[in-house]
Amino acid sequence: MPIFKEQSGYENGVSRPKGEANPVIGYSKNICDIVIAMNEKIEQTKKRECNPFEDTAIAEQWISSVEGERGKVREREIYPMIEEWASAFGEGARITEIGSGQGICSQYLGSFAGMYIGVEPSVPLTERAKELYSDDENKQFILGNAYKMPTECKDADGVFSMGVWFHLADLDAASKELARILKHDGKFNIITTNPESYDIWRTFFDNYTEDGKMISGKVNLPVTSLSRNDFYMHTMEDMLNSLKNAGLKVELTKSLGAMKSNPDTPLFVSIQGTHKKTPMV
Ligand SMILES: C[S@@+](CC[C@H](N)C(=O)[O-])C[C@H]1O[C@@H](n2cnc3c(N)ncnc32)[C@H](O)[C@@H]1O
Repeated sequence: MPIFKEQSGYENGVSRPKGEANPVIGYSKNICDIVIAMNEKIEQTKKRECNPFEDTAIAEQWISSVEGERGKVREREIYPMIEEWASAFGEGARITEIGSGQGICSQYLGSFAGMYIGVEPSVPLTERAKELYSDDENKQFILGNAYKMPTECKDADGVFSMGVWFHLADLDAASKELARILKHDGKFNIITTNPESYDIWRTFFDNYTEDGKMISGKVNLPVTSLSRNDFYMHTMEDMLNSLKNAGLKVELTKSLGAMKSNPDTPLFVSIQGTHKKTPMV
């Protein structure tokens, strides 16, 4: 909500029309527009929730875990899916990853021959991504947030995100940003936790608290535990509605990442589709 929005009417007991200079404090007639614009900027840039990955110790735990993981769900199913999805773009295409972490997915783009931009809010993770992968001049890693994507990402042919959507409290805002940066006919692929598997995900947490749809606590990953992780248990309906309301067309949902112990309940779901921009009238 804006802190202040000008309306005609009373101010300090004085009635005046909208946009007219206030004789009491003497501001110019544009000041309200400036304040409204500033409020919108604050709305766009403020952080909606805590992101533990921005903490250096937790970022290091994540680096250790994701770089040490072998032969598990990521290698077996997630990276091959990203490779297949990215390989379908033509030469010179531009794809963006939202929440690129320490950059590992940029290694798995198959025959993709275009420009990749990884956007990530955590400074230590972005530094690690640059250290490991930015020798390739077709890869760029930028600090940014799902709620306010950098201008470099605008007009993307494709946008993907792996393991991020369940860390976001505000899916509507993230979906709007996704739609904003995707060009007409651009493709998206959101790989996130499968709502049907939340009971399994709970078992990975130690000493967690649960507040509404949010779980927070230590999470045990295959290689290194994260001392804190915040997990939003969004329903499938909420995820699909937020994408649809942002003008994105979902064409495929596919679950992946079943463990031997729970073969019928895969841990992840991929939500794929296209952005059909409505023409300006
Ligand atoms: C589980 S890691 C996944 C990283 C990477 N996508 C991968 O698969 O290796 C989750 C990532 O989501 C990022 N993240 C959390 N909140 C975010 C937000 N609001 N916008 C963008 N990324 C966010 C974290 O900083 C972290 O890098």
